[in-house]
Amino acid sequence: MEKIVVNGGTPLCGEVEVSGFKNAALPIIYACVLVKGKCIIENIPNIIDINRSFDILRGMGAVIRTVDRTTVEIDCTDVVCGTSDYSLVRRLRGSYYLLGAELGRFGKARVAYPGGCDFGVRPIDQHIKGFKALGGKVVTDGGYIEISTENGKVTPANIYFDMSTVGATLNIMLASVMADGMTVIENAAREPHIVDCANFLNSCGAKISGAGSDVIKIKGVESLHGCTYAIIPDMIEAGSFLVAAAATRGNVKVTNVIPKHLESITAKLEEVGVTVEEFDDAVSVRVDGPLRPTNVKTLPYPGFPTDMHPQMCALLATIEGVSFINESIYDNRFRYVEELKRMGASIKVDGRIVTVEGGVPLSAAPLIAVDLRGGIAVLIAALTVSGISEITEINLIERGYDDIVGKLRGLGADIKKVYVPDPVTLKQAN
Ligand code: EPU
Repeated sequence: MEKIVVNGGTPLCGEVEVSGFKNAALPIIYACVLVKGKCIIENIPNIIDINRSFDILRGMGAVIRTVDRTTVEIDCTDVVCGTSDYSLVRRLRGSYYLLGAELGRFGKARVAYPGGCDFGVRPIDQHIKGFKALGGKVVTDGGYIEISTENGKVTPANIYFDMSTVGATLNIMLASVMADGMTVIENAAREPHIVDCANFLNSCGAKISGAGSDVIKIKGVESLHGCTYAIIPDMIEAGSFLVAAAATRGNVKVTNVIPKHLESITAKLEEVGVTVEEFDDAVSVRVDGPLRPTNVKTLPYPGFPTDMHPQMCALLATIEGVSFINESIYDNRFRYVEELKRMGASIKVDGRIVTVEGGVPLSAAPLIAVDLRGGIAVLIAALTVSGISEITEINLIERGYDDIVGKLRGLGADIKKVYVPDPVTLKQAN
């Protein structure tokens, strides 16, 4: 077990390079199951969820070779359908892309029910609706989701989603990419990672158009071939550094980003009074004067991302005045609030509305990373106050942030990772 020890109170300053996007890398890695051949994937983040995904694929027969720190070669030629490890699959959300990938390649699938951060109910009814529309017979049994098709082939279909869903849009794209005919997804999610996955599949020979709009057309092809592809930069990692810079009243440039993907975040930062500068593949923020409270509503892309909500709350807690956050995507993404309150923050949650009475002095405290984005929010809050804060359960942060401690240290933070013997090891030592 490890913990992060932070002595905050110093403005973050300098440049930080953003890694590849977890939420784009995950579907692309699982999409490799559709390819009989080698795919070289560049700009891969070195994070727990990705490494677990490699373990899942290796366990199914994939050959995965590390080329360098951010590049892998994935060969899924010999992958066997239905052999993914139950306990690994249930530990991450992105593993549900195996359902679409297995269905697309083998005309059937058997995968454990996925896991992921606990934000209340996270149904997958839209995925199931889509699989059924493609001719899948779906059975859930013993913790597994099993899909079969009549003659081992998916049937193209027109699918209308009841809400904007990233996961279901991608899963149907994967499942239908080699169907015999045209599949149309309406009310599709428009996130940059949808476009990235479509671009990857098209580089492998797929015929997908419309990704990034709410109608995606997938003209089935007979087979896919290997390719070399670079994952887009992580807009949420970039946003987290920009917000951390603002919260510590610092001056930070994030590099290797696509500024367009950050617009909803930089617009909010400008609204609170942060100075933002955009470059071709970088964005910088600095705080020149007092900041103002604001209101935020999380929405599907291009709206303000739910995955930036906790970080934004940590920033708003440092700004004098009352701010509101309306969480419209998840019904319970608020567990981090209790941790901020331990530091003295004045925050109330009523239904899906968070009311932040900012400017109340915060103090360092022992804290827990309750989930991935909640964990980084607590870390941002700890960076704003002088005194030692210790954060435990940091594996939840490391699920999605590549070398977070090293990168923050590069921005001048007094931060380190410390090994803590877990109680079992201690007992044995005694
Ligand atoms: N939803 C349904 N039924 C479905 C699918 C979704 O009701 O069948 C609901 C969800 O419960 C949620 C909303 O629709 O309320 C949006 O869900 P979506 O399917 O878009 O989310 P996801 O695919 O489960 C991905 C990211 C999340 C991110 C969301 C929204 C991955 C692995 N996860 O989840 O990332 O919050 O999109 O952008 O890509 C994170 O990185 O911290 C994270 C949680």
